[in-house]
Amino acid sequence: SRSISLAVIPGDGIGQEVVTEGLKVLAAVLPQDVKLETKEYDFGAKRYHATGQTLTDDDLTQLKAHDAILLGAIGDPSVPSGVLERGFLLKLRFAFDHHVNLRPSKLFPGVSSPLAGSPEIDFVVVREGTEGPYTGNGGTIRTGTEHEVATEVSLNTAFGIERVVRDAYARAQARPRKKLTLVHKNNVLVHAGHLWTRIFHAVGEEFPQVSTDYLHVDAATIFMVTQPERFDVIVTDNLFGDIITDLAAAVSGGIGVAASGNINPSRDFPSMFEPVHGSAPDIAGQSKADPTATVLSVGLLLRHLGFEAEADRIDTAVHADLAGRAGRPARSTVEIGDALAASV
Ligand code: NAD
Ligand code: IPM
Ligand code: MN
Repeated sequence: SRSISLAVIPGDGIGQEVVTEGLKVLAAVLPQDVKLETKEYDFGAKRYHATGQTLTDDDLTQLKAHDAILLGAIGDPSVPSGVLERGFLLKLRFAFDHHVNLRPSKLFPGVSSPLAGSPEIDFVVVREGTEGPYTGNGGTIRTGTEHEVATEVSLNTAFGIERVVRDAYARAQARPRKKLTLVHKNNVLVHAGHLWTRIFHAVGEEFPQVSTDYLHVDAATIFMVTQPERFDVIVTDNLFGDIITDLAAAVSGGIGVAASGNINPSRDFPSMFEPVHGSAPDIAGQSKADPTATVLSVGLLLRHLGFEAEADRIDTAVHADLAGRAGRPARSTVEIGDALAASV
């Protein structure tokens, strides 16, 4: 019989609130014969204050034993910016080689977009997840003088680019429109940009059915607002991918509905699923957070583990829920979770 061993990391701020609803929907959608085992981990600000730890080798060993990880969000105003983000989240993505950071954007029927008209939005950003300016390469010198210097060096390997680009081509190939857009800034970041561009074209030889496009990241932000229908699959570097996926969320239903997967395609390590948003300290503890992004992330998790029918049911329930929102009063986090759990 089938089973899922799931590591659950609620984290900080609204993380706990949205993960509770995500798990509620997961429990509701799974058939009786699927054994779900969850283990909760207390990573985040509270543990950091109590122990000074963010993520230890022992933590990684424990996490590795699960089939997948569900994360709420990490980051808290009481901890210096970057300590948890780097020391927990990026450390985990790197340790488990989550090089495909998958961030779909779809404007569901009946959902209002801040964009004029009702544009067709259905694209997926394949964000590189282990390299770029995220590796921590850099430092400061002459600290405390007026000649202080800070560098953040973007690391780009042919190996790392090629594997994520190939993954993106394969995803484009499997979609009806078969279009892949490389987003970079090769007019300025010529070293990394030219490597990305060269590999993008070289790997494209293997995918003759996929049409390709290139946009500088600044122009990509224009088109994401004025012509989002031009995008099908986007492949991009870690930082550009971070930025454009918040924009993508904003134009396609809001940050409250944007899901993501940090995928290790080789399955050497468990993949991690999380909403695109953060811990939202401005609304934490008020039951105002929309749990839909987490619920959709649970859907991505189920799809990753081969539970296609259950993932489809989550998507269907979310579509219906979103379509029914117009003109109705806002609901609490728990009310939305209950409604989704009741309809999957
Ligand atoms: P954020 O995504 O937490 O919040 C941005 C805005 O979106 C806020 O106004 C917030 O209220 C709103 N928002 C976010 N999620 C929402 C939801 N589910 N429903 C309704 N509104 C929602 O980004 P931020 O303010 O830049 O970051 C806050 C903290 O979270 C920081 O410490 C940051 O480093 C961290 N962060 C963590 C992750 C993660 O764990 N993956 C992602 C992004 C940011
Ligand atoms: C995200 C977040 C993270 C990122 C931060 C918190 C490290 O913004 O998941 O989008 O930049 O990847
Ligand atoms: Mn982000």
